[in-house]
Amino acid sequence: MRIRSLTEDDIPKLAAIVAENYDAHCAQMFYPDARCALSDGPWRPRFLVATVDDEPVGCSCWSVDWSSWGVFNICWVQVEKCHQGRGIGKDLIDATLAELRPQATLILLSTSLKGYYERWGFEPLCNYRSAYVYDGSEQETLMALRSTAARDAAGQ
Ligand SMILES: CC(C)(COP(=O)(O)OP(=O)(O)OC[C@H]1O[C@@H](n2cnc3c(N)ncnc32)[C@H](O)[C@@H]1OP(=O)(O)O)[C@@H](O)C(=O)NCCC(=O)NCCS
Repeated sequence: MRIRSLTEDDIPKLAAIVAENYDAHCAQMFYPDARCALSDGPWRPRFLVATVDDEPVGCSCWSVDWSSWGVFNICWVQVEKCHQGRGIGKDLIDATLAELRPQATLILLSTSLKGYYERWGFEPLCNYRSAYVYDGSEQETLMALRSTAARDAAGQ
């Protein structure tokens, strides 16, 4: 397994993984986010792609949150069903946090898998009803991870 940056060729396979884990509508929403990542916009999201034999099997994405300096979001965390439970999701989150920690003071994500993210130290902020129901589960939890590395590096 290898983790690398997104390429244009990865997008259809990753969208198919989103469709498999969620549904076709969600997969359609994946395309513009992934294409935006390949643009030259200053606030483009960054996708990390997990590959097995150079075939995409999962991804994670981080982007700037507009609420304040140093706040970032994680989204589009996905592993293909036939590769789940082998540590690929863990490696994707580890790699994502390795990129974010030096620049972040707060990292936010929204999930229905609260327990999965608690192992990295994410704390639940609030539960809410999702606007988009994909698998019968309406409840999402907004979670936050504090990071001091960026401030430590700046000597603050
Ligand atoms: C969630 C997901 C990304 C995890 O990826 P994965 O590669 O299957 O997970 P890993 O193999 O890295 O799991 C690592 C550990 O987390 C645990 N884990 C997996 N799912 C969990 C859950 N829902 N709650 C708590 N722990 C969980 C595993 O038991 C494993 O524990 P271990 O290290 O003690 O064996 C993957 O299952 C997935 O794509 N799910 C569908 C899409 C989704 O829900 N994405 C998250 C949106 S926020």
